[in-house]
Amino acid sequence: MKEDNLRTALADLPLQGLRFFAQTSSTNDAALTWAADGASDLSLVVADEQTSGRGRGSRRWMTPAGVGLAFSLVLRPKPAEMGLFPHFTALGAVAVCEAVGGRGLAPQIKWPNDVLLGQKKFSGILCETSWLGDTAEYVVLGIGVNVAPGSVPPAQELNFPVTCLETESGTPLDRLSLLRDILQALIYWRSLLPSPLFVRMWDQHLAFRGQIVEIRDEHGQVLRGTLEGLESDGSLRLRPAKGNVFTVRFGEVHLHPVV
Ligand code: BTN
Repeated sequence: MKEDNLRTALADLPLQGLRFFAQTSSTNDAALTWAADGASDLSLVVADEQTSGRGRGSRRWMTPAGVGLAFSLVLRPKPAEMGLFPHFTALGAVAVCEAVGGRGLAPQIKWPNDVLLGQKKFSGILCETSWLGDTAEYVVLGIGVNVAPGSVPPAQELNFPVTCLETESGTPLDRLSLLRDILQALIYWRSLLPSPLFVRMWDQHLAFRGQIVEIRDEHGQVLRGTLEGLESDGSLRLRPAKGNVFTVRFGEVHLHPVV
């Protein structure tokens, strides 16, 4: 990826700043540092290669040079967006779905933060928030996308099947045009974040609807039920084999289909 080409591809987006790294440890780390130094809303960090990309929990995210997308956007929440923090992770996933859906594929969101094709993960979202008391000062929305086969990590490193866009589509994809489309969708859907339309769009892309899934929370507790859909606040609605429907709120949770 060449910085000049990147700047040209993104020139018509209302970004307030852009930093490009041929190689960096993690674009989320670079964006968090920049945000702490005062980066404006809609400042973007892009790297061609990450050497210590981070996933949720203690997971790693691999981004070798030339084969994927790794970028992080600084967002400074507006008053109407306060209280919508689970929505920011979903915003990344919805934007990836829209851009990839525009390329003839049918992506789905594995709640809360993975994007799948054919039940295999090709994109992950890592959203990190800096709080000042009760107020969110800034959110860093980090998105990783496996584009070419070289971006897919070795199977033994994974706890979920993984793929990349080129394998699923059978054609080469232009990373810069994909990045542009994801960012454009993200900016559009952000403007609808407080609207019910946003949760509807998120719900439409939900993976495993009607299937039995298990959700493990951060304490190791496992909940099992048929995945029915999203509540209006983005919580997941599950129907257990016995007993009442219950909802799971966003958190450090892991969802798996029961096969
Ligand atoms: C996950 O699947 O657990 C989330 C993966 C998020 C990876 C992206 S790549 C760009 C940004 N920088 C990081 O270090 N992580 C995110």
